[in-house]
Amino acid sequence: MNPKRAIIVGAGHRALLYAGYSKIAPEKLQIVGVADPNPLRREAAAKLFGFGPEMCFESAETLAREGRIADFIINGTMDHQHLPTSRPLLKLGYDMLLEKPFAVSEAEVFELLELSRRYGNTVMICHVLRYAPFYRGIKEVILSGEIGEVFDIQMAELVSYHHVAVSYVRGKWGNQIKCHAPMLLAKCCHDLDMMLWLKGKRPEFVSSFGGTFIFDPAKKPPGSGKRCLLDCPLVDDCLYSAKGHHIDHPERWSFYVWDSLEHIENPTIEEKIESLRTDNIHGRCVWDCDHDNVDHQLVMVQFEDGATASLHMTGGTAKGDRSIHIVGTRGEIIGNFDDEAFTVRTIVPAAPTGFHERRVSFEQHEDTTGAYGGHGGGDLRLVEDFVNRLYGEPASISATTIADSVLGHLLVFAAGEARASMQVVDLRQRLAEHGL
Ligand SMILES: NC(=O)c1ccc[n+]([C@@H]2O[C@H](COP(=O)([O-])OP(=O)(O)OC[C@H]3O[C@@H](n4cnc5c(N)ncnc54)[C@H](O)[C@@H]3O)[C@@H](O)[C@H]2O)c1
Repeated sequence: MNPKRAIIVGAGHRALLYAGYSKIAPEKLQIVGVADPNPLRREAAAKLFGFGPEMCFESAETLAREGRIADFIINGTMDHQHLPTSRPLLKLGYDMLLEKPFAVSEAEVFELLELSRRYGNTVMICHVLRYAPFYRGIKEVILSGEIGEVFDIQMAELVSYHHVAVSYVRGKWGNQIKCHAPMLLAKCCHDLDMMLWLKGKRPEFVSSFGGTFIFDPAKKPPGSGKRCLLDCPLVDDCLYSAKGHHIDHPERWSFYVWDSLEHIENPTIEEKIESLRTDNIHGRCVWDCDHDNVDHQLVMVQFEDGATASLHMTGGTAKGDRSIHIVGTRGEIIGNFDDEAFTVRTIVPAAPTGFHERRVSFEQHEDTTGAYGGHGGGDLRLVEDFVNRLYGEPASISATTIADSVLGHLLVFAAGEARASMQVVDLRQRLAEHGL
């Protein structure tokens, strides 16, 4: 078997993680090049995967000028760059593992769909949670028919107070004008994709409510400063103090927080404090940065068969987690992702309680060695599935096609539209127009 040859476009945190599959399965995947405007990241990737400077390109566009020189692309650029960087490469016929969200507008969603149809590329969006044993196990139970026909799905994603602050207030996704992605797109396109995957039907109607509750600038504590470690008297008490989040816990979200110190090999704690006092975006007061994203949003969906589903995205919780409750005509599945187990309950009129209950845990379901990385082991299983698909092997039950991902992303944009207009959005015509 010749390994599939891949080039990284956007050598950031995510792409390097996926490329790491080449270290555990070198017979299947070889990383042969990189495109990234950041010279430090190009050099680091070349060193890590062992290729020369002739395979380092300054951008996706420069790489595209070479023609097709590998089997596929791992595109880990930022949200708003996904379509512009993918366009020239898809036209050359590259297959692609593409980070979510793959588009930042409905128009971009349909453009990527049409491009992949026209050039026949295999494009897989990195919906890694489908590969986590927890969700895959749930999908298997649904497919077995044990709980009957699914007619209601209740999902919640709780985003912890430190996660919401680092990513969706101070960080890369705090300001929608700069990042082009509402929090629902950046955080929950996974959850909406899973909602569709678990239900397996077309969504038709969407409504949504939400907004900014915690991080409303009007709630800035009286007397607080602009930078926690520079001028804020509440630095030791505030729940969102940059000191509490990132100096008392320098490892917490380190891959986002210390980006601005990447040029220093091992920054000292003094250098970290100085960066938070001066130019590090994560040193800003959460009520006094250019944040304009929601911090909580509720999405409700009705499917073509009349089934319903809801997703609560709630930022600012003590602990982050995902929960799910799926109700079918013969039973239900209920579980929390972090418990590494879920419960299946079936209707049994003859039983003293009226039901039977069993617990499905990862241990009995699949190994938990951690070799397959984050997202419950989903990260590298997704890469494995994509590479297997390029070898012509049958798709796993977790595999997503570009058409599946299109529906999930459309739900996000429809929810944004519904929230802004306080109206129900009818998706039927737009789906029909694009053959979905
Ligand atoms: N699947 C998941 O669960 C998951 C989790 C977190 C983040 N993400 C997504 O992953 C993506 C990447 O996030 P990240 O934190 O790794 O980003 P990052 O900022 O670390 O990396 C992006 C890289 O793209 C490079 N880049 C910019 N313009 C480019 C161009 N024209 N050509 C080539 N490279 C270019 C940048 O220099 C940077 O190195 C985002 O879209 C994010 O939403 C997905």
